[in-house]
Amino acid sequence: LDNGLAQTPTMGWLHWERFMCNVDCVNDPHNCISEQLYMQMADIMVQEGWKEAGYEYVCIDDCWLADERDSEDRLQPDPTRFPSGIKKLADYVHSKGLKLGIYQDVGNLTCAGYPGSHGYYDLDAETFADWGVDLLKFDGCNFGTLDMLVEGYKYMSRALNATGRNILYSCEWPLYLWPFHQPNYTDIRQYCNHWRNYDDVYDSWQSVKSIIDWTASHQNLIVPVAGPGGWNDPDMLVIGNFGLSWDQQVSQMAMWVIMAAPLLMSNDLRSIDPKSKMLLQNKHLIAINQDPLGRQGYRISRVNSFDVWERPLSGGRYAFAVLNRQEIGGPRQFPLLLATLPSWKTCHPECSVTQILPSYQDLGVQNLLSALKLTINPSGTVLFTVTLNEGLAAEQKW
Ligand code: GLA
Repeated sequence: LDNGLAQTPTMGWLHWERFMCNVDCVNDPHNCISEQLYMQMADIMVQEGWKEAGYEYVCIDDCWLADERDSEDRLQPDPTRFPSGIKKLADYVHSKGLKLGIYQDVGNLTCAGYPGSHGYYDLDAETFADWGVDLLKFDGCNFGTLDMLVEGYKYMSRALNATGRNILYSCEWPLYLWPFHQPNYTDIRQYCNHWRNYDDVYDSWQSVKSIIDWTASHQNLIVPVAGPGGWNDPDMLVIGNFGLSWDQQVSQMAMWVIMAAPLLMSNDLRSIDPKSKMLLQNKHLIAINQDPLGRQGYRISRVNSFDVWERPLSGGRYAFAVLNRQEIGGPRQFPLLLATLPSWKTCHPECSVTQILPSYQDLGVQNLLSALKLTINPSGTVLFTVTLNEGLAAEQKW
């Protein structure tokens, strides 16, 4: 979507995977969907380096609404859980130098059964703009007919634009179309800043793997449409929760970086462990995710239960990720012959190789005859960058 937003993938925090539809503020005040939760996350994002690392949007998902619209048909938040209202919350988030995201649905009801936007697209867009909302995640449950789904997503895009406020538009349009037919991604890119293609992420390696595999098996269709202003969204980062081992957390981060995915964490920043925090705040990884060239990576091979991915970066650099898919045994060696890469020219005559995951390590100057021996844990990933060694390249011209 050409609205000047999402020139690089969106970064922030979104409540859904970790906090879901917890509306029980009586018994679970610390974890229920309430204004306090977002205020706390905003505080921590500033205090603990998240904002500095690039995480900017604090996003509300489903279950923030009251059961009914107000007497003027405007949306209203649940009055006991959001006593100050969304405008106040937006002001608070803005006072921290962050941005506020909110959730609605193209149909009659949201996925959790709260009032949807159907029939009220203009009014809801105006309401969000009045409140100072900066991002809308627009879900597709209960959409009616396929025409209503597609027209609804387009309508809301125009309605947001007509408010004059910069509101990033996060869609789930292709996800809801896939059961019926292949989506028209050129159309979707024209109307949305990012779009979900596939199932909701769960806090499990099975789920993360299935998203990676779906992406690879549809890469010819979806990779070419990604770029500044419009991205494929493989859903939230679940790093720092309960279901992923350390190596699997490394793999999710590596793959989301390679896939030029929005980095929307869904975890509890109040209690996240220091290792997961370091992974999520790793500046080398974030720089790759946010690379200004804005090209999404793709899988280049599957050999011997190793998946090899490549992402072209600005300045002729490349990032590579090798994921060990064998989930039995110990660490395995992957011999990487640089000459066999589709982008082998980067190492002609010489290139500098830097490993970033699972730990930072300068792998030195290499050439086309070099065979790197990467050691990769089961369900873990090694991520490295390859940069043409310009000094030497220039020297050789002489
Ligand atoms: C759908 C979406 C999720 C989340 C829930 C909320 O399942 O795909 O990301 O927003 O609805 O109910």
